[in-house]
Amino acid sequence: MIPGEVLYRARAYDTPDNPFTDGLARPGFRYDDDLGLVVSAQGVITARGPFAAMAAASPQATVIDLRAGILLPGLVDTHVHFPQVRVIGALGMPLLEWLDRCALPEEQHLASPDYAATIAGEFVAGLIAAGTTTSLVFGSHFAPAMDALFARAAHFGLRVTSGLVVSDRMLPEPLLTTPERAYAESLALAARWHGVGHARYAVTPRFSLSASDPILAACASVMSEVEGAFFTSHVNENLIEVATVRGQFPERSGYVDTYDHHGLLGPRSVLAHNVHPLDAELAALADRSTSVAHCPSSNSALGSGLFSLRRHVASGVPVALGSDVGAGTGFSLFKEGLQAYFVQRLLGDQGLPLAPGHLLHLSTSAGAAALGLGEVIGDFSEGKQFDAICLRPPAGTSLDIGLRHAGSPEEALGKVFALAGDADVADVWIAGEQIASGGLLRPVSPLTPARRHMPAVSGSRGIRR
Ligand code: GUN
Ligand code: ZN
Repeated sequence: MIPGEVLYRARAYDTPDNPFTDGLARPGFRYDDDLGLVVSAQGVITARGPFAAMAAASPQATVIDLRAGILLPGLVDTHVHFPQVRVIGALGMPLLEWLDRCALPEEQHLASPDYAATIAGEFVAGLIAAGTTTSLVFGSHFAPAMDALFARAAHFGLRVTSGLVVSDRMLPEPLLTTPERAYAESLALAARWHGVGHARYAVTPRFSLSASDPILAACASVMSEVEGAFFTSHVNENLIEVATVRGQFPERSGYVDTYDHHGLLGPRSVLAHNVHPLDAELAALADRSTSVAHCPSSNSALGSGLFSLRRHVASGVPVALGSDVGAGTGFSLFKEGLQAYFVQRLLGDQGLPLAPGHLLHLSTSAGAAALGLGEVIGDFSEGKQFDAICLRPPAGTSLDIGLRHAGSPEEALGKVFALAGDADVADVWIAGEQIASGGLLRPVSPLTPARRHMPAVSGSRGIRR
């Protein structure tokens, strides 16, 4: 017997193959009616197969029977704003007015470390309640607030990649900094958090509209000093924003180039929105292997536009999902998946028809790949870490009834994206540690030596000096 080994028995879905790949037959997901997953004490899936075979091979493992629910890989949100929990639901404004009237006033309150700690608690609880185990988090403009976020995420072992948001123009004065200060504070935060547990650092200019060339150059310096750091920002979200940025950077070929010019785009870069890209910009993103975070409920709520998934896929740009809380209307990636599906329907001939397998892929393995974690999480293959959620809808709800009467696994998965919400996310695991049970949070033990270093990004702790 291997100490601490657990054998999970479940009805499970995952997407080890990319359903957008030409020639992959439907349904584009893997479903097992009675799956056995052997998970080691370190949280790694060491064997998978029919439950009976797994039970015979690991007779001493503790069996946890999850067949009353549906097991999915932990959800991955590639764009969600930490300081915007309390502004969710302000409807009726386009981007720049919403920033002025809703987001930016709230974000200034995070100058208070006490307030920031409260928001960090609400934010982390919101992610876990929605079943989001991994996220690329758009941070705060205040370094102490970022410490609060990283500390709260570490409490639960959440996989959070985030960093100080920096800007030096066009925002309220309390949110502005200088290139020199942005550089110093970012490096200090990265030194405290990058590679500690599941935390990683993301260099984060808010958007080129609020970031001059000197501060973008400072961002590039931080990127080159923090090995394995990520880069994230916004791009091509709203037509007025795009025109303003083109006016601010006349010598660049477009919005994407404002980042690319500084060498900020590569495989560890994720740009949010990209609703209005030029063909040449899509080609540049594909060439850099830079991912796009598609945020469909935010794009709809702000009226930013209809995202052309077809053009992204045809150009070879990796796409995953982002909730974009708080312009987005909640933390649930099930809702984002459904909204992504709606948008493609509304695009008619220009849309890319999405099936339930696409939605699961976009909200799990595509996000893992965008965040450089494709070898670590995203599905239930052997060798991956056990990041998982178990959906158990309350009896009598539409989802409960629908799942009991679904005619096929694909139909059931469609019902999950149509109907599931936070109330259905019963259990949550990260690297084999259960952090929510029956919908209640369970902080993990302090970091043990085995958990201190992230496996995904080689040399990720190093800060070059
Ligand atoms: N562009 C710059 N800041 C923001 C933000 O907070 N939300 C969205 N949706 N777009 C932005
Ligand atoms: Zn955003």
